[in-house]
Amino acid sequence: MSRRSVNPSRRVADGGLPSVGGLLHPKSRSPPVLTIALVVLGVIILIAYFNSGSGVTVTSREAVSRSEGSCTPEVMQALPYLKKAYGNELHKVLHVGPDSCTVVSNLLKEGKVEAWGVEPYDLEDTDSSCKSLVRKGFVRMADIKFPLPYRQDSFNLVIVSDALDYLTPRYLNRTLPDLARISTDGLVIFAGNPGQQKAKVSELPKFGRPAKLRSSSWWSRYFIQTGLRENEGPLKKFEQAASKNKYKPDCQIFHLSS
Ligand SMILES: *[C@@H]1O[C@H](CO)[C@@H](O)[C@H](O)[C@H]1NC(C)=O
Repeated sequence: MSRRSVNPSRRVADGGLPSVGGLLHPKSRSPPVLTIALVVLGVIILIAYFNSGSGVTVTSREAVSRSEGSCTPEVMQALPYLKKAYGNELHKVLHVGPDSCTVVSNLLKEGKVEAWGVEPYDLEDTDSSCKSLVRKGFVRMADIKFPLPYRQDSFNLVIVSDALDYLTPRYLNRTLPDLARISTDGLVIFAGNPGQQKAKVSELPKFGRPAKLRSSSWWSRYFIQTGLRENEGPLKKFEQAASKNKYKPDCQIFHLSS
């Protein structure tokens, strides 16, 4: 009786292989441990994958907005042509716009050019070379909606990039004449093209409001309305030098007399 009652129970537990049963028991406990370990490993790999994945996306998006949505790099590209167009007038230059430190340090490298900058947005997370330009008084932060702290005719040339795209006509009406007031030989405006809208929107947190990218006919009408005239001599020289070198700017570039 006792032998018969043991056998069926063993058969149920060990799948009818009583002799191997003793070995199977410890093994049958190990698969869950292995499964848990694999799941944990899988989760770790997935987390690592998504982290690295999102990191890559963010960097490439930033790169796009910087190269396509900003006219400040265009100032550097246009510099050889600006030199041709303005010659000696490229002596005392004020740059107004985001990333002014980069423009100013590049202009200072030119040797003959004295350069200053106004950064309209923020100078908080800048590198040490920018901090040094700020400390030495070459670059300052100022709200361009209000008159800039410079005397009349302080500069030969004032170059503005991006900044005006963020101003409504009400503020443009004050800012543009003020930029003309502080320059003697002209005002160069780098404005975004309407096609760049998308990239600009990604910079919204920094600038507070989306850029309003106006067409060249809008700007022309606006300049006439405000009594600003095109600076014909330098404009011609600039366009000649640009077409000779097949330089096609992504941004709109206006040359105004002051
Ligand atoms: C800006 O100035 C122009 C010319 O003086 C004027 O016609 C226009 O109404 C002004 N715009 C605003 C929004 O104040």
